[in-house]
Amino acid sequence: MRLNKYIAQSGVASRRKADELTLAGKVKINGVVMDQPGYDVQEGDVVTVNGQDIRPEKKMVYIVLNKPKGFVTTAKDDQDRPTVMDLVTDIEERIFPIGRLDYNTTGMLLMTNDGDLAYRLTHPKHHVYKTYRARVNGILSMDKAERLRRGVDIGGFVTSKSKVEILKHGDHSTIVEIQIYEGKNRQVRKMFASVGNKVIDLERIAIGDLHLGHLKSGHWRKLTQREIEYLKKL
Ligand code: URA
Repeated sequence: MRLNKYIAQSGVASRRKADELTLAGKVKINGVVMDQPGYDVQEGDVVTVNGQDIRPEKKMVYIVLNKPKGFVTTAKDDQDRPTVMDLVTDIEERIFPIGRLDYNTTGMLLMTNDGDLAYRLTHPKHHVYKTYRARVNGILSMDKAERLRRGVDIGGFVTSKSKVEILKHGDHSTIVEIQIYEGKNRQVRKMFASVGNKVIDLERIAIGDLHLGHLKSGHWRKLTQREIEYLKKL
């Protein structure tokens, strides 16, 4: 990061004032006066202004992305497939996804550089409920819906109680909304598979009380202050 930006982000001075301080010899890098405002501060550099150590305050960023199909939820894919990072290029901060959606799952993905919040939201003990809309193959009977509500074995793990609402029966498929509290790998797909219905499309529409709303596929927006506070309280 450029020295004047580094100083400005530390809250010591504006960029212009930072340049003045630098030219006046008030800034040191690793104990040595640095009079070049354009110096590129390196990882590990100790910067002092008037003898005080400074460090840029980290600006926290929280966004929601409507993830399309065909994107992996990682920073870098070893098979070179497109990643969700490719969709949020115009953010300066180094953000990362909170949790994961499968390659072919669409919908709500939160991203941030706030490691504490990400940790808390993904920790199993916090039980943040997530709502998915699924189109599954065939008819999902009332009986199967009830089994899903009570909990099913998805291979060595029995899911806790969930909410299941059948929205529409088609000729060959059923549209269902399901709310789950855990986040096991491919959990929703495995749950429907356990009662004999294969998931055709899966979209996450809400995390807790935060809803995806009308955000277009592949688009993102910053969370509002109220949404951020809600997540922090969860
Ligand atoms: N459950 C799934 O099966 N897939 C997802 O992407 C999220 C939840």
